[in-house]
Amino acid sequence: PAHHALFRQMPKAELHCHLLGSVRHATFAALARKSGAPMSTQEIDAFYIRGEKPVGVLKALRALDQYLLVSADDLYRITFEYLEDAAAHGVRYSEFFWNPTGTVRVSGIPYPEAQAAIVAGIRDAERDHGIIGRLVPSIDREADPAEAVAMVDWVTTHRVPEVVGIGMDYREVDHPPEWFATAYASARRAGLRTTAHAGEFGMPWPNVRTAVELLHCDRIDHGYTIVDNPELARQYAERGIVFTVVPTNSHYLRTLPPERWALDHPIRRMVQLGLAVHPNTDDPTMHNVTPTGAWQLMYTHLGCSIAQLRDFMLNGLRAAWIDGSTRDAWM
Ligand code: HPA
Ligand code: ZN
Repeated sequence: PAHHALFRQMPKAELHCHLLGSVRHATFAALARKSGAPMSTQEIDAFYIRGEKPVGVLKALRALDQYLLVSADDLYRITFEYLEDAAAHGVRYSEFFWNPTGTVRVSGIPYPEAQAAIVAGIRDAERDHGIIGRLVPSIDREADPAEAVAMVDWVTTHRVPEVVGIGMDYREVDHPPEWFATAYASARRAGLRTTAHAGEFGMPWPNVRTAVELLHCDRIDHGYTIVDNPELARQYAERGIVFTVVPTNSHYLRTLPPERWALDHPIRRMVQLGLAVHPNTDDPTMHNVTPTGAWQLMYTHLGCSIAQLRDFMLNGLRAAWIDGSTRDAWM
């Protein structure tokens, strides 16, 4: 396709990718065999079929915690492989999500060991592939809000430089952001940066506003329903709040056939409203998308120009949780 080499080679920052949503199909199958997980090949393959809905992905992620990830070595492996695959697509810097609550409570791997394995994967991937990885422990909003407070305690107790902030994901429906105000306040007090998934699953714009105004998030993941409140969008455009958007995979987006993407796709409308967006893969292997593909879709399906893609790259650098001198060296 046109410009494919350009989209592949352009240096990218990735700010919205979930570690468990980046597991290679072959690795998923190998982990299932190794752990003796009660899953058939067909069940595993189904997680990787193009066009699966997000609820399918969330099930796959739960299966990983429940059956597949049994030791810290498994976390090392998927971290190294994710960063290796991202580097092959021109990603130079990635802040990626991982949900400690499931790993600790369900997989039974203690937090310090799990974090150390992921950080070892980050260090080895930088040594071998030159990619810089940063870890963003993410609140599981389907768990008790007290677990979110506990997660922030783990992060602050075992603080390492590779952990730069926290996020929040899983199913937004019936799990509103305000439940997590205590955990976010505690993270901010500890000097961690913050983001949250909001306005996904068609959940209305007040969730986006709550994430910004009550949780004081530095940026927002998805955020699509802000287009239903143009006045709020105007304010957030002015404040330069960055939205890490995903052209492939939210339920909200899936309701549109591809031929209408360029006309009324929420990401297109966000751009028209002047919001600062940055395109990402979210769950790359399970949604069959690569970093190259995510950027390319912005051009081929959403009608963005190369000049706009350049602005999106700068949005990503501005929103990245790197120190000022590193940012200056890059820009
Ligand atoms: N939405 C919410 N939570 C998630 C997602 C997503 O698309 N992927 C992984 N966790
Ligand atoms: Zn996500």
